[in-house]
Amino acid sequence: MITFSLETRTFYLETKNTSYVIRILDNGTIAHSFYGSRIPQEDISYYNIFREMSFSPQISVGENQFSPESLLLEYPTFGRGDFRLPAVVVQGTDGTNVNELQYVSHKILNGKPAMSNMPQLDVNVENVQTLELVLRDAIAGYEAVLYYTTFDTSDVISRRTVIRNIVDSPILLKSVCSASFDIENSDFDMITLHGSWARERHVERYPLHHGTNSIDSRRGASSHQLNPFAAIVGKDTTEFFGTAFGISLIYSGDFRLSVEVDHSDTTRVQIGLNPETFSWVLNPGESFDTPEALLTYSEVGLNGMSQNFHHVCRNHLGKCADPNLRHPVVINSWEAMYFDFDETKMVKFIKDCTDLGIDTVVMDDGWFGHRDDDHSSLGDWFIYDKKLPNGLKEIIDTCHNNGMNFGIWFEPEMISQDSKLFELHPDWCIHIPSRKAIESRNQLILDMTRPEVVDCIFEQMCRILSTYDISYVKWDMNRHMTDNGSLALPCNRQGEMGHRYILGVYKLIQRLEEKYPNVFFEGCSGGGGRFDFGMLYYMPQIWTSDDSDAVERLKIQYGTSFAYPPSAMVAHVSACPNHQTGRTVPLDTRGNVAQTCSFGYEFDVGKLSYEEKEAIKAQISKHRQLEDMVNHGTFYRLRSPFETDCCAWQLVSDNQMQSYVMFAWRTSSPHPKVQYLKLQGLDPQKYYTIPQLGITRIGATLMRVGLAIPMPTTVDYPSVVFDLLSE
Ligand code: DGJ
Repeated sequence: MITFSLETRTFYLETKNTSYVIRILDNGTIAHSFYGSRIPQEDISYYNIFREMSFSPQISVGENQFSPESLLLEYPTFGRGDFRLPAVVVQGTDGTNVNELQYVSHKILNGKPAMSNMPQLDVNVENVQTLELVLRDAIAGYEAVLYYTTFDTSDVISRRTVIRNIVDSPILLKSVCSASFDIENSDFDMITLHGSWARERHVERYPLHHGTNSIDSRRGASSHQLNPFAAIVGKDTTEFFGTAFGISLIYSGDFRLSVEVDHSDTTRVQIGLNPETFSWVLNPGESFDTPEALLTYSEVGLNGMSQNFHHVCRNHLGKCADPNLRHPVVINSWEAMYFDFDETKMVKFIKDCTDLGIDTVVMDDGWFGHRDDDHSSLGDWFIYDKKLPNGLKEIIDTCHNNGMNFGIWFEPEMISQDSKLFELHPDWCIHIPSRKAIESRNQLILDMTRPEVVDCIFEQMCRILSTYDISYVKWDMNRHMTDNGSLALPCNRQGEMGHRYILGVYKLIQRLEEKYPNVFFEGCSGGGGRFDFGMLYYMPQIWTSDDSDAVERLKIQYGTSFAYPPSAMVAHVSACPNHQTGRTVPLDTRGNVAQTCSFGYEFDVGKLSYEEKEAIKAQISKHRQLEDMVNHGTFYRLRSPFETDCCAWQLVSDNQMQSYVMFAWRTSSPHPKVQYLKLQGLDPQKYYTIPQLGITRIGATLMRVGLAIPMPTTVDYPSVVFDLLSE
C-alpha cells in the first residue's frame, strides 16, 4: 500500500509489518524519513533535523539554511554539498560530474511496471503498488525515475532506477545505484557472506566503521567471494531478536553494496552495478534500467529477515514461484566418473540407480566435442562419438526403461581454444586484440554481448535439446572474467561490456526456457559462484558448492540461507572419503544435512553395499516426506556452526502441523555436553509427537523448554533428526 500526503508532501510505503517514508522538501530534494517497523501515517518531519555544518556548504530552503550533508536522502548526487557517496554519477553535457536531482512528478501505480531484459520480481501480482518518482537534472541532461514496489506479505520493497537522457547530445552514465537510503544512526553491525571456491557464503559479522564499508564483485559474476547480500543489524540483534535490514540484488554480474558511515554518524546504504567496471553511453532519447534491488526489514532478528527474502523468492521470483514446480531427486555423474566415462559405463551407472527412488540421472561434463579433460571442446555442443557412438539414445532409453529421466550438463558461456568453434571464430572470446587473453581452467569466455554468439550457442543447444528427450539441464560457468573488452563495442562503450555480457546470458537462458518450457534448469558456477536472485529467477535451484562434504556444507548452507531459501540450494550426498576434504562422515549425517534442500546424489551407486543402497532408498523416501516443507515451509536457523561446534536448523510446514529438526556436530568431543535446543515456529497450543523421542508435547513447551539432545558417541560427525507431527 502506498499513499501520499499532499499537505506534508510525504509518501508512506507500507508492507504488512514495515513502513518506508519519503518526503519531498520545498527545494525539490527527495529526503528519506524512515524505514522500519510499521508506523501510523503521521507527520514525522519533526524528526529530521536539518542543520548547518562547518566545512560544509549551506543552501537555503524557504527560510531555513542547512547543509545538504545533514539530510537523510533518497537518491543523492555529487557536487552540490553532499560529500557522501552519490547514487548516480552522470557526466553531463557540460563535461562535469556535478549533478543535482529534483522532484518533477510522481505516480502511484497499481501493479508493477515490467523490465524487458532483466530478471525481476513478478509484475502480475495482486495487492502490489508501485511508486514512480521522476527526478530531473536539466543541466546534466537526465531524469532518474525511481521505482518502489511494496510486496506486502513478504515485507519486501523492491527498488530500481531508470536513467533517461533528456537532451539532444550523448551523456555518460558513470555509476548508478538501484537503491540508496540513509539511516539516522550508525550503531550497527554489518553481516556479509564471503568465501571462495568450495567455501561459499561464510557468515561474517563486523561493526560498521566510519567511511565506506563495502563488498563488491569485479569478476564478471556475482561470485563465490562476496555474495550480493548484506544485513545491517542492531548491536544486540540475534537470530530471533532485534532489528535487521536486508539488502540484495536480482543480478548475476559485477555489483557494489556499500554502507557509508559519515562524520555525523549517519549511515548510507547503497546497492547497484559496480562503478569500477561499468559505464554506459546514453544517446538522446535512450534510457538505462538498473537491476532490481530487494530491501527488507525485520524486528524479530535475522531469521525474520531471511524468511522475508525466502518468501518473496518463492512467491514472486520467476521460476522459483512457479506453482507447478517440483525439484527432482537427482544423481549426478561428476564425482562418480568425472571425464572418465563412455556409453557402457554410463548405462551401467544408470542401471545401478534403478529402484532407489531417483527421478533424474544427470550426465555431467565430458559428453561433447572431444572432451576427455578440461583442456578442450567448450563451444562444441555436439556428441563426442568416441565415448557415445550411439548418441544419447541408449543412455536416455536406459533411464526411461528404469523409471528415470535424463539430464545433461552444459557450460554455454565458454570456449576452449582447442575447439571447432574457436577454429571458426577465434575472435568470439572476450579479449583485447593487443593483449594475449588469459585462460582460466584452460578456457576463455564467449562474448555474450554479441547477438551472433548468443544465436550460435542457442542453436547448438537446441539441436541437442530437440533431438533428445532431456528433462533437466545443469548450466555451469567455470571461470571469472579478465581482459574485459568486446570487439563488438566502440572504444567509448567498452565500459558497457560486463553488463551487456550478463544481459546476453539472460537472453540466452530466456530463449531456451521459452522454447523448452518443460526442461528444468539448474544453475551452477564451479559450485555456488553465481548464487544470486538473478540466476534463481530462471533456475529455481543452484548447485550450492563443489564442496560436497557434509561438515563443510553445514556452514555453506547455513550461510546461504541468510538470503536464499532451502529449496534453492542443491545438496547431494557424495562418497567418502570426501573428494574435496578427505573427510569421512557417516552416511546418515550426509543424508541429514542434504535432505532439507533440493536433494540428490553424487557417487557411483555400483560401489555401494546392499545396506548402503537400502539407506539411500530410506533417505529418498524421507526427503519425499519433507519436500513440501523444503519448498513451501518456513526455515529457521537454530544453532550457528560459525559460533558453536554444532549446527541446527528446523523446517515448519505452512499449517504448522509438521516440523523437522536437524542437529549435527562439527567435531566429536570426549564426555560431550547435552545440547538444549528451543524450537521455533510451532503452534503453541498444538500437540506434537516426536517419534524419535517417543514423546508428545505441546508446542509452547517445545519452544520454551525445548529438546535435550545428547551427542551420539559411537561415530565421528554425528547428527540426529526429529520429526514433529501434529494431528
Ligand atoms: C563445476 C561444477 O560445479 C561441478 O559440479 C561439475 O559440473 C564441473 N564443473 C564439471 O566441469
